Amino acid sequence: MTIQQKNIPLVDLGAQYRSIKTEVDTVIANVLEHSAFIGGTFVQQFEEEFAKAQDVKYCVGVGNGTDAIIIVLKALGIGVGDEVIIPANSFIATSEAVTACGASVVFADCGSADYCISPESIAAKITIRTKAVVAVHLYGQPAQMDEIIALTKKHNLFLIEDSAQAHLAEYKGKKVGNFGIAATFSFYPGKNLGSYGDAGAIVTNDEALAVRCRMLANHGRAKGEKYDHHIEGYNSRLDGLQAAILSVKLKHLSEWTKKRRAVAQRYDEEFRGMKDLGIFPRVAERESVYHLYVVRTKKRDALREYLKAQGIEAGIHYPIGLPFLEAYKRLGHTPADFPHTAQFQNEILSLPIYPELTTEDQSRIINACAEFCENKTV
Ligand SMILES: Cc1ncc(COP(=O)(O)O)c(C=O)c1O
Repeated sequence: MTIQQKNIPLVDLGAQYRSIKTEVDTVIANVLEHSAFIGGTFVQQFEEEFAKAQDVKYCVGVGNGTDAIIIVLKALGIGVGDEVIIPANSFIATSEAVTACGASVVFADCGSADYCISPESIAAKITIRTKAVVAVHLYGQPAQMDEIIALTKKHNLFLIEDSAQAHLAEYKGKKVGNFGIAATFSFYPGKNLGSYGDAGAIVTNDEALAVRCRMLANHGRAKGEKYDHHIEGYNSRLDGLQAAILSVKLKHLSEWTKKRRAVAQRYDEEFRGMKDLGIFPRVAERESVYHLYVVRTKKRDALREYLKAQGIEAGIHYPIGLPFLEAYKRLGHTPADFPHTAQFQNEILSLPIYPELTTEDQSRIINACAEFCENKTV
């Protein structure tokens, strides 16, 4: 008789909640007690804590990570007639934000062995209309910042770090969020620092930009004014409940990040020798926080099915490169325009990784991959 094993999900938010239940429940009751729903002390406190955690001067809480990018681009005056270069392999939020500002999306490919935006590809896409580059620290690993900074400086472009997947990640010992004019974060529930709904933030070391972002996120109001709107803005604020929950979780984030890195290290060691299973090269100076752990194999769909049959959930980030989505058909791109993105989208597979993933579950995932590689591959 075979014993039914429990399923291993791609992310397990329930396990995380149970580990901090008392703290979270207490703080939720606190917010309700104080009716601190919009703005107020919980938001202010979290903004200060998060700025400190990322080693930046200013943090502006907003409604979600997509709005964070839109608001930064708007605050920088980017709009109709401007071009913004973004990676071909990212979540659609990065490109949606550019279009939402009225600017034109220009995609750049990733490298042949690196899923982050390639500096060479950026260089090839710069025109006189280019105003900004949005570099995404994909899967939690910082992009090649030195080369990207050199390019943006040379061509006088704004650099924005889309750090939605990279809370606490470091490049050459410095936290992401310190390399461009501003960085944006998502606190979508499944992110390394996730709220219990939608939430996001903008961080910057530029005070004037922080003030303008805050104004835009709050109906164009100047600080403290209710009905005196200096500009038209948005309703995109971090709410009190989410801020209070995020403050609780932020206290655990370093520990959780260490645990993610330990799982990733074990996976790296185990997968390194496996036939037909590739891991992306690790670069010490680009210290990942492993929002996702992604392997590559030509037999991706078969491996995913094999894992599923064993109760192990895997994901694909992302199955269709942005330029090839129906949403960007108007741009007329073909796989030949972004060969690396086109190749990766058929080969990448995200395996479960989260701080609460037990050693036994890690072993099950590793063993299942090993069995697949030994038995099912030629
Ligand atoms: C790279 C990237 N950018 C932006 C976002 C958008 O964040 P949100 O879902 O909070 O709007 C996400 C999150 O899904 C993301 O992964």
